[in-house]
Amino acid sequence: MALTDQQIAEITRLTSHYRQKSGAAVEALKMVQRTSRWVSDEDLGAVASLLDMSPDSLDGVATFHNLIYRQPVGRHVILVCDSVSCWIMGCRLLGDHLRRQLEVQWGGTTADDRFTLLPVVCLGACDHAPTVMVDEDLHGEVTPAKLDQALEGYR
Ligand code: FES
Repeated sequence: MALTDQQIAEITRLTSHYRQKSGAAVEALKMVQRTSRWVSDEDLGAVASLLDMSPDSLDGVATFHNLIYRQPVGRHVILVCDSVSCWIMGCRLLGDHLRRQLEVQWGGTTADDRFTLLPVVCLGACDHAPTVMVDEDLHGEVTPAKLDQALEGYR
């Protein structure tokens, strides 16, 4: 999908805040992702050109950033923290529970396209471990039952 005129205008506006256009890379990728859920090679190439970057350099930025998706994802993305505090507090059980409930493996998307399940490094809320992020929403002190209830809210 090619960038829309509105997306091009927005990226141009974002770059005006930076001395180098590449400073707007993450924001530009996130903006594109808000529309398409993920960033295709075609979109990445178009954004790179607007930022005066090579596609490879921009892909490096996208790959480094956990919340930029370079493959199609479902309507909602569930990120399960598997760093040390969450590991100690039982994130593995949460992951097992989700994989069973949703019938997907890590990195997979449910058959109805509703959820994609991904592991993630520390979400920065270790004192609320175990943590799970659904889209932009952080859920702390999560149990399988609390998670099931929370996921009901994501259609
Ligand atoms: S280790 Fe999970 S939020 Fe920090």
